[in-house]
Amino acid sequence: MTTLKTAPGGYLTGFGNEFATEAVPGALPEGQNSPQRAPFGLYAEQLSGTAFTAPRKENRRSWLYRIRPSANHPAYKPHPQGALRSGPFDEVPASPNRLRWDPQPMPSAPTDFVEGLVTYAGNGDAATGAGISIHLYLANRSMTDKVFWNADGELLLVPQAGRLRLVTELGVLDLAPGEMGVVPRGVRFRAELPDGTASGYICENHGAPFRLPDLGPIGANGLANPRDFKTPVAAYEDVDRPTLVVQKFQGKLWASQFDHSPLDVVAWHGNLAPYKYDLARFNTINTVSFDHPDPSIFTVLTSPSEIPGTANCDFVIFPPRWMVAEHTFRPPWFHRNVMSEFMGLVHGVYDAKAGGFAPGGASLHNCMSGHGPDQASYEQAIRADLKPHKIKDTLAFMFESRWVIRPTRFAMESPALQSDYDHCWTGFEKAKLP
Ligand SMILES: [Fe+2]
Repeated sequence: MTTLKTAPGGYLTGFGNEFATEAVPGALPEGQNSPQRAPFGLYAEQLSGTAFTAPRKENRRSWLYRIRPSANHPAYKPHPQGALRSGPFDEVPASPNRLRWDPQPMPSAPTDFVEGLVTYAGNGDAATGAGISIHLYLANRSMTDKVFWNADGELLLVPQAGRLRLVTELGVLDLAPGEMGVVPRGVRFRAELPDGTASGYICENHGAPFRLPDLGPIGANGLANPRDFKTPVAAYEDVDRPTLVVQKFQGKLWASQFDHSPLDVVAWHGNLAPYKYDLARFNTINTVSFDHPDPSIFTVLTSPSEIPGTANCDFVIFPPRWMVAEHTFRPPWFHRNVMSEFMGLVHGVYDAKAGGFAPGGASLHNCMSGHGPDQASYEQAIRADLKPHKIKDTLAFMFESRWVIRPTRFAMESPALQSDYDHCWTGFEKAKLP
């Protein structure tokens, strides 16, 4: 394993702040971005995550000071991509049915993070800068002398089992189940597996970068607080050894054999950087009187579209929380939604389903499809003694998007796809009118 030149694990706090960090004292230029000669002969490089002219509050860019310029590499060639897919998602017809999957098995063959990407669904496409692609990762070996980056969007990772150590250009991001992390578009990283195996979910966001939602009448505090987001301090490696650099570009993987590791950024400053967030820090807000607020009350991050309040993607969690609503049907209600909903479960049990939705599994409820509690959960909820009750030991999440989420052929033909999901909404007694 490669030796990093600063000890990993240090973090800077805040969301989208103008960070400044150096792994070697004096590596970060003072007072300007691109001096005639950067300290120690480092190469200054701007990484732009938004257009140069994006409004100041939207603008994201960082200045990197590296051992070699990023431009120093041979050509990329097409690379095998297994079950990784991208838009347009038209391999199979978009299904109007409610869909649910059991967890995918861990591969038996040696499989690293990139090899272990499987695409379940998506919408939009990378070419037009809109929509999302939803992947699972299932890996049982660390990447060695191999680095990945994505030109098609930022990656929001939700670990489900096993820790991930993402050794990125801008520092080391350690992720554990219960946390989420984001790697911006273009940032190179190597995924290592401290526990030997790791699996989880990825939302690849082709649209506007994720940001904290506005809080409206909630006020200045609540939901995910900015100071709980963590961005790694600068760390670099100085490795002159062949490194396979794989990029995802317009849905396809391409690879180039570098003669060095590109994880060689010694110092950087700016507001475009990887970050992570412990979902247990989420300040969950809910009713203290009656009725069930919309699940948007649980939004951690949002990628807006050009229509106000209508997200390219919202990342929403269902964490442990008190239920205190009086004379109220407490589980998520029956509904049909113009937005499309992909759900996953990190651990525990989701309160609208009595069974069948396992950690590592997934469900998809597309535009206007009727869904809600299953029959067993419904019967329990209408008879429940409505004392304050704490939902414990659970963490479900949702990627909610304004566009229909279209499954891949892999997802529709996978043995993990449940054939009897509709059955959970059978057996409801007919209402008795007077
Ligand atoms: Fe829903």
